Amino acid sequence: MTAVDDARTLLTRMTDAPLAGVWSAPGRANLIGEHTDYNEGFVFPFAIAQRTAAAVAVRSDDVIRVRSTFADDTVEVSLADLDARIAAGGLDWAGYPLGVAWALLREAPDAAPRGVDLALASEVPVGAGLSSSAAIEGAVASALNDVWNAGLDKVALARVGRIAENDAVGAPTGIMDQMASMLGVADAATFLDCRTLETRPVALGFAEAGLSILVIDTLVEHAHSTGGYRERREACERGAAAFDVPALRDVTVDDLPRAAEMLDDVTFRRVRHIVTENQRVLDTVAALDADGPSAIGDLLVASHASMRDDFEISVPELDLAVETTLGAGALGARMTGGGFGGAAIALIPTGLIPAATEAVRAAFAASGFRAPNIFTVTPSEGARRDA
Ligand code: GLA
Repeated sequence: MTAVDDARTLLTRMTDAPLAGVWSAPGRANLIGEHTDYNEGFVFPFAIAQRTAAAVAVRSDDVIRVRSTFADDTVEVSLADLDARIAAGGLDWAGYPLGVAWALLREAPDAAPRGVDLALASEVPVGAGLSSSAAIEGAVASALNDVWNAGLDKVALARVGRIAENDAVGAPTGIMDQMASMLGVADAATFLDCRTLETRPVALGFAEAGLSILVIDTLVEHAHSTGGYRERREACERGAAAFDVPALRDVTVDDLPRAAEMLDDVTFRRVRHIVTENQRVLDTVAALDADGPSAIGDLLVASHASMRDDFEISVPELDLAVETTLGAGALGARMTGGGFGGAAIALIPTGLIPAATEAVRAAFAASGFRAPNIFTVTPSEGARRDA
């Protein structure tokens, strides 16, 4: 059963009304470019095959009723009360779909909203740093855009997802995840300039090169609405303010000696991560274009070291996953996503996956860490209508 089938089945348990349609959007893995998005820099994520689906039926009143396969409760709110319910907060998982409805109405004033029953089902692991939240947002935004005749394009729908996440859920994230989920292309990663929102799909050619992306989900939980993520963001803003520029996008590797003189040690290292990471994204895209996927391994390794030592968002489980997969023959490996838990990715010859998986399991057991979830992800298509 796919998420699309599950969402459709769940909807039939909510209502007898006819199906208006099913829409789905994928999670994402970020190949490189971490915490650069809210610094208006560059990122290079790809959509994965695991998706979240939203099945919708239209109601005769103005109530939005949401239900999902990942929680027991059904949440309903009338369109008239939507502003107040979002402002009151405390919606838990329902904050994502309802936040998208709220953000869509804000971004598309000409939309024709109507009551809907909306059933959600997801294949994207929650808390793995693979953007289960962007997958919900992308599926719901795509669905309501069609059902409410809102007429937004994919970039505008990504923006709707980000507004939901920032202003309804309260996580101060950038726009990478929503753009990756909306715009994904099979066998490619999306090179995104987060200042202009210009994108370019870049062919990855992993399969032809005999390479795979292995995910090691450490099962260490993280939440970006609290704590470290917000602090990192604030440090970046301090760094940009010291340079008197709108964002760290405007600081280059050549500026780093000056940054070292101007900033305290911690802020300097936060800045150095962003500045060098932006350059690594550009270098990765250039290396892929020129020499193919086997040329990008060292850049992934350097990215991880920068996140571990300068940005300080890794955890021992992620470091161990990276070290162990590299020791087992991966060309490159790094944590992916916001950090403080979640998953690492390794670019690895496909034939080495069984031995690398064993090595990671053994290393985690020897360190007394919880057994990780290990699986591969495939660069896949972005948001779409399925039925
Ligand atoms: C999370 C956020 C993204 C991005 C990454 C770090 O996934 O949702 O916007 O900031 O962390 O690169």
